[in-house]
Amino acid sequence: MNTTLRAAAVATAFVCLSTAAQAASCDPGKDGNDLTFKEAQAVYDCIAADLHAGYMTGGKKWVPGGYVADYRNWTPVNTMPANPGFHGGRFLLTWVNKVGAEEYLKFAEDDAVHIPAGTVIAKESFAVNAKGKVQKGPLFIMEKVAAGVSPETGDWFYMMVAPSGTPQAVPVMTACNECHMENYGFQGGLGYPDPEVRVGQ
Ligand code: HEC
Repeated sequence: MNTTLRAAAVATAFVCLSTAAQAASCDPGKDGNDLTFKEAQAVYDCIAADLHAGYMTGGKKWVPGGYVADYRNWTPVNTMPANPGFHGGRFLLTWVNKVGAEEYLKFAEDDAVHIPAGTVIAKESFAVNAKGKVQKGPLFIMEKVAAGVSPETGDWFYMMVAPSGTPQAVPVMTACNECHMENYGFQGGLGYPDPEVRVGQ
């Protein structure tokens, strides 16, 4: 996100927080399944500062704190948030660090995907329920480690931080790895955003 956009998001979120009807002012008042990409973006702009402040709260234990502090300065790979029906039906927005951004942005759909070790991917999430109320979701992180370190996960480490900032001890094999590898193993374990919101496509 560039500085102007971030400033706008902070300003919007400040307005949200400074009113008594705080969360309500970010609610689109419309079923999440019926939101256009632009409407989802407006919800995101409203909650963005608050969402990140939540992820930043408290100690990060085994999740490298720098990832959580920095990922919004990495390369965004979504043009807008989208809800692909995975990750609990949440709207998702993804950033990739400098090591892997170029390779990820090819969105290669075969085993030509060569994501380098040291790549870190962070994905924010939020949900809008059937009543049109917004709920903050977890931050999902994948890190590509050196070849052979974790063969059963395709050398991906999976991490998750709750909206409150607490790292979540999830059983990564069943909660993350199975879906990524069984469904997307042919493209390096990557799910990629909805084609309509991919940067550069
Ligand atoms: C039911 C299948 C499923 C499960 C379970 C799942 N994911 Fe994903 N994941 C996806 C899909 C599909 C995408 C691409 C969606 C998008 O970006 O819009 C994705 C994308 C991601 C990305 C961005 C990189 C990419 O693949 O493009 C990260 C990071 C991520 N998931 C982390 C996790 C973590 C951590 C867990 C476990 C806590 C997890 N995922 C569980 C399906 C799943």
